[in-house]
Amino acid sequence: MMEASSTHQQPALIVNDVVKRFNVASIPWWKRLRPDHQNGHSSDDQAANGSGSSLKAKRGKEIITAVDHVSFTVQPREIFGVLGPNGSGKSTLIRLLSTLLIPDEGTVTVFGLDVVKHEMQVKRLINRVSVEASFFKKLSAQENLLYGARLYGLSGKVADQKARDILKRLGLRENSYTEPMEEMSRGMQQKVAITRAFLTEPTVLLLDEPNTGLDPRSKMEVQTFVRELRDVHNATILITTHDMYEADTICDRVAIMHDGKIVAMDTPAALKQQVKRNGHEPTLEDVFMTLTGEALIEKEADAADLEPEKV
Ligand SMILES: Nc1ncnc2c1ncn2[C@@H]1O[C@H](COP(=O)(O)OP(=O)(O)OP(=O)(O)O)[C@@H](O)[C@H]1O
Ligand SMILES: [Mg+2]
Repeated sequence: MMEASSTHQQPALIVNDVVKRFNVASIPWWKRLRPDHQNGHSSDDQAANGSGSSLKAKRGKEIITAVDHVSFTVQPREIFGVLGPNGSGKSTLIRLLSTLLIPDEGTVTVFGLDVVKHEMQVKRLINRVSVEASFFKKLSAQENLLYGARLYGLSGKVADQKARDILKRLGLRENSYTEPMEEMSRGMQQKVAITRAFLTEPTVLLLDEPNTGLDPRSKMEVQTFVRELRDVHNATILITTHDMYEADTICDRVAIMHDGKIVAMDTPAALKQQVKRNGHEPTLEDVFMTLTGEALIEKEADAADLEPEKV
């Protein structure tokens, strides 16, 4: 129990050889070849497309390895980005770090606390923002936020002022603050979710695509909040995003996931040095395309080698 405060220099997050598998209904190979299965609209579709390496389980069932022997360490005050195609395991990783899922193999620790053994202490250190944020939809943003703040021991008055300040910076109209959440647009609800996370100044902030649905100005403001939380409150931040420019701008280091594995991990500058120049300075997008694109092509070639006679 004393582990968390015993040393300041211990890593903020340690993900050690973690594996997370899911059992999903399997889809016959001939269905996978249908053009409408190529776009991967549902989780099952993504699974069928090979997002997350899979192995056959019982009849009608398939095991998807969403996180496949992943290891990394995040230092205190680091802004660590996780990039990867749809279904590569980013959200699963965030759920493991936030105690919502239990790893099948390996260990996850937050400031020395094991997420399985010390679930409650870990929960107190972290906040998570995700697209599936849950709210009492009939209640207003104000009611939802003050309720959340009270759970963290913040006084109503302080929390109310802070919530108003944050929402104002994110560009939410004053009168929306007291309207029922169900009347808000997706982007507006996302702003409330972000406000809830920043309200209590967590030690570790896990942001799963925080900018989904946000307009460009609000996106910039979220980046400013992230930096402030680190600079002023010494927070450690792990963020997943599909915005390569954002990752390049705010992340100290970036891990690129593909099929549940980390295929590259370094500073954005070092990653960019790894890719060939095609007449222009490489961007993080070039790195992403090179690493995940080539892997996809190899996979398709393998599949063609394995099952030609069935087609
Ligand atoms: N609860 C679940 N049950 C079954 N399979 C799941 C579950 N959650 C995730 N998966 C599968 O695990 C793999 C990784 O999913 P995950 O949501 O972690 O991907 P992601 O990288 O966050 O993708 P995206 O960019 O679309 O958000 C996918 O194949 C997905 O279908
Ligand atoms: Mg996700």
